[in-house]
Amino acid sequence: MLRWGAFAAATAIALLRRRRTAPRTSAAAPHRRRPRHDWMTTRIIVAHDESTYRRIVLANTLRSDGVIELGSHVGVTTALARGLTDGLVAGVEMSEFSVAAARERYADHDIEWICADASAVGVVRKRLGGRQSEVTLLLVDVSGSRDPGFVLTLAHKYARCFTTLRLILIKNFKVASIGEMMTVA
Ligand SMILES: C[S@@+](CC[C@H](N)C(=O)[O-])C[C@H]1O[C@@H](n2cnc3c(N)ncnc32)[C@H](O)[C@@H]1O
Repeated sequence: MLRWGAFAAATAIALLRRRRTAPRTSAAAPHRRRPRHDWMTTRIIVAHDESTYRRIVLANTLRSDGVIELGSHVGVTTALARGLTDGLVAGVEMSEFSVAAARERYADHDIEWICADASAVGVVRKRLGGRQSEVTLLLVDVSGSRDPGFVLTLAHKYARCFTTLRLILIKNFKVASIGEMMTVA
């Protein structure tokens, strides 16, 4: 299982590197080229488990941050972030039931609850209106055991789209395990 995960993650990383060194360009419409955000310059922290994830949120959220959590479930970590920043806070969750529970539980919190598949970055961006550029901290918790390739690809999509990100925090024990197995030479 983990081998598959490692393969998927390695493939995702290879794809990212290729994009980085050979960005797609259009000779016909060079004016349409937009500068791409290089996510290799965005700091990434990976947490194994929920308590570590929340501890890292506590230690790393700045009062000036704009925060989005992908996979907000009933809103516990999103609400935690709300108390740590004066900026925008949004939770993205695909389960209507969980979003309804979060809305009710944190009715008095200023949080934008977005019921959507987090993979649909365009939908999320649209729901944020013009506030996309306020997002500096991305929390990714779309199930801790999810395939690492999916999680890294998702983080990469947001890093490219939300160019103001300063930190990405991922909760996924498979990505964390791969990180521990790696040696950088
Ligand atoms: C482990 S729970 C998140 C817990 C939450 N982050 C917290 O700390 O309280 C994972 C959540 O991710 C949601 N999820 C999984 N895939 C998703 C996707 N593609 N888009 C949005 N939400 C997703 C699940 O419905 C589930 O509620």
